[in-house]
Amino acid sequence: MTLQEVRKKYVAFFESQDHALIPSAGLQPENDATTLFTGSGMQPLLPHLLGEKHPKGTRLVNSQKCFRAEDIDEVGDNRHTTFFEMLGNWSLGDYFKKEQLPWFYTFLTKEVGLDPARLYITVFSGDPENNIPADVESVAIWKDLFKKDGIDAHDIELLTEEQGGEQGMQGGRIFYFDAKKNWWSRAGEPQHMPAGEPGGPDSEVFFDFHPELGEKCVIEGYGTYCHPNCDCGRFMEIGNNVFMQYIKKEDGSFEELPQKNIDFGGGLERIVAAKNNDDDVFTIDVFANLIREIETLSNISYKGDQQISFRIIADHVRGAVFMLSDGIMPTNTDAGYVTRRLLRRAIIHLNKLEVGSEALVALSKHVIKAYGDTYTSLAEKKDVIEATLLAEHTKFSSTLKSGLKRFEKIRGDLVSAEDAFVLFTTYGFPIEMTEELAEEKGMKVDMEGFKKKMEDHRKTSRAGAEHKFKGGLADTSAKTTMLHTATHLMLAGLRKYLGDDVHQAGSNITEERTRFDFTHNEKVNRDTLDKVEAYVNEAISAKADVAIEQMPKTEAKEKGVEGSFWEKYPDVVNVYVIKDDHGVVWSQELCGGPHVKNTGDIKGAFTIGTEKASSAGVRRVKATLETV
Ligand code: SER
Repeated sequence: MTLQEVRKKYVAFFESQDHALIPSAGLQPENDATTLFTGSGMQPLLPHLLGEKHPKGTRLVNSQKCFRAEDIDEVGDNRHTTFFEMLGNWSLGDYFKKEQLPWFYTFLTKEVGLDPARLYITVFSGDPENNIPADVESVAIWKDLFKKDGIDAHDIELLTEEQGGEQGMQGGRIFYFDAKKNWWSRAGEPQHMPAGEPGGPDSEVFFDFHPELGEKCVIEGYGTYCHPNCDCGRFMEIGNNVFMQYIKKEDGSFEELPQKNIDFGGGLERIVAAKNNDDDVFTIDVFANLIREIETLSNISYKGDQQISFRIIADHVRGAVFMLSDGIMPTNTDAGYVTRRLLRRAIIHLNKLEVGSEALVALSKHVIKAYGDTYTSLAEKKDVIEATLLAEHTKFSSTLKSGLKRFEKIRGDLVSAEDAFVLFTTYGFPIEMTEELAEEKGMKVDMEGFKKKMEDHRKTSRAGAEHKFKGGLADTSAKTTMLHTATHLMLAGLRKYLGDDVHQAGSNITEERTRFDFTHNEKVNRDTLDKVEAYVNEAISAKADVAIEQMPKTEAKEKGVEGSFWEKYPDVVNVYVIKDDHGVVWSQELCGGPHVKNTGDIKGAFTIGTEKASSAGVRRVKATLETV
C-alpha cells in the first residue's frame, strides 16, 4: 500500500464513524510556545481538549504534518525520519476507550489488513502516588478483541524497559508499563507536568517485524530478551491511544477533566511499512521514488555504506520542502536554522555522491507530486520552494569545497573551537555538520569552547543594543536593523489606516523578513496593505532622521508614543522618533533598538506579503525589503 492509500482509508474509516475532517496545522505552532515545531496532532487542539467548543464538533480526524528536530542526527538508519505524518482522531468529551480501541483495531486488521498475531499492546500500570489506577479496562477490551480473532491474549506486568529486557515477554501480548512509557502529556510523565497541563494514561500498539526471532532482538546481543518497548528495532510503535482525562492542579495533585477525551496518534509511514512487512521505512513509495531519482542523478545504486547518504538526502529534502511550504525559510537562527541545517546536510551528502545543484529541485518535484493533493501549500509555493532550494544549493556549494579543504587541514584528533568557529562563520558549516565530519574521521570537536566563542561573538555584536522587543530581532546585522526600522514605520502605517486600536502583539525579524503580529479584529484587505506599504516607502524616500529621545514613561504616554509592553520598561524610556526635515513625524515608538540613523539608509522597496490570522483578535503580516 502507498502512503496516500493508507491516509485515505484512515480518514474515510473515521468519517464513517461521524468524525469531521480538519486540516493539518502548520509545522510551526502558532500559539504554542512549548515547542519549535508541531510534533503531534493534538498540539493545535489543546484548547478544545480543555473544553473549548470546536466548530466541527466533538469527533475529529486528520493527518497532521509533524517535525521532530531532535531526530535529525538519528536519520540514516532504517526507521528514523525528521518529518512524518501523524494520523489523528479525537473525541472531545464524546466517546472513550470502548469505542476507540475496537475502531483502531478494526482499522489495522480489516482496513489495512495487518495480521493481528503481529500486534502487541502496552497499557498503563497505574501511579499510586497520584492516585491514578492501572488501566484494567483497556486490558479487558483488548483481550476481547484478540479473542474474536482466535488469539488468547495474556497480560504481563513488565513496568520498565530494564525489567522487560530481563524477563522477556513470557508468552504475553498485553504488557503493563509505568508512567515513563504509558503516560502521555506534552511535558511527559506526571511529575514533569506544569499546573494546568492535561494528560493521561495511554495504550500503545506495536507491530512485530520479526516474529521468526522468537524471544531475540533484531540486533544480536542487544538485550537478553526482546519486548515491545525494546529499542533494537524489532517492534515498532504504530499507534498511541491517549486517554486524556486528567489535569494537574496548582498543588501538584491530579483531578479528572470535566470531559474525558481521546487523543489518538498513529505513525502513517510506520503503518505503511508494517503493511509492506519491511522494517526499512525508506522502502515506502514516497522514499522509494526519491531514492530512485538519486540513483538516476548520481548513477550510483542504493546499497552498502552509501545507503545512509541516500536516506539522509531523501529525508532532509522532504523535510525541507515541507518547511519551505510553511514559510520557514533558511536563516541562521530558530526554526529557519533547522531548514538550513537540513539543506546543508543534504548538500554535503549529494556532494559525496557527486551530484550537482540541479538535484534539490529535481527531488523536490517528487515530494510536491506525492503530497501536493493533500497539503496544498506545497503546490501553491512550488516556485518559491524551487527558487530557495536552488539559491541555497548555489550559495553553499561555493563555500562547501573550500570549507572541506579547510577541514582537511586540521591535524590531531580534536577540532579546536577556533576551527569550528571559522567553519561556521566563514564557510557556513552548521556545527552539527562539523561534528559529523569529525566523527567520520574519529575526531572530536571542542564543543564547550565553540559554544563559548559563539556566546562572546553574540555579546559583541549585540553590545549596546538592549533587547526589549518581544520575539524580537534574530540578529543585529545591517539588514535586520533596516527591517526593524521599517517595521516601526509599518506599525505607524497600520495605525494610520486601521485606527488606534492597532498595537504590536509580537514580532520576529530576520535578515530576510519581518514577521509582525498586531491587534486587529478582521482581515486587512490588499488595498489597505498597499497603502501601508506606500506609507513606509514614502517615509524611506523622505530620508527622515531616526533619533532616540529619553523621557519619563508618563510623558511618553501623554505624547501618544506607541508601545505595547509598557510594563516591561523602566520609568524613563527610550523613544525612537522618526521625523523628516519638514517636521513630519513618521513614527514614534518605545523601543530598545537598534535602528538605522536615517530612513534613507533602508535599502530596497518595502513589500508586504501575506496577511493572516495569528490568534483570536491578532493578525500576522510578513514583509520584506526587495532589492530594486
Ligand atoms: N499525542 C499523542 C502522541 O503524540 C497521540 O496523539 O503520541
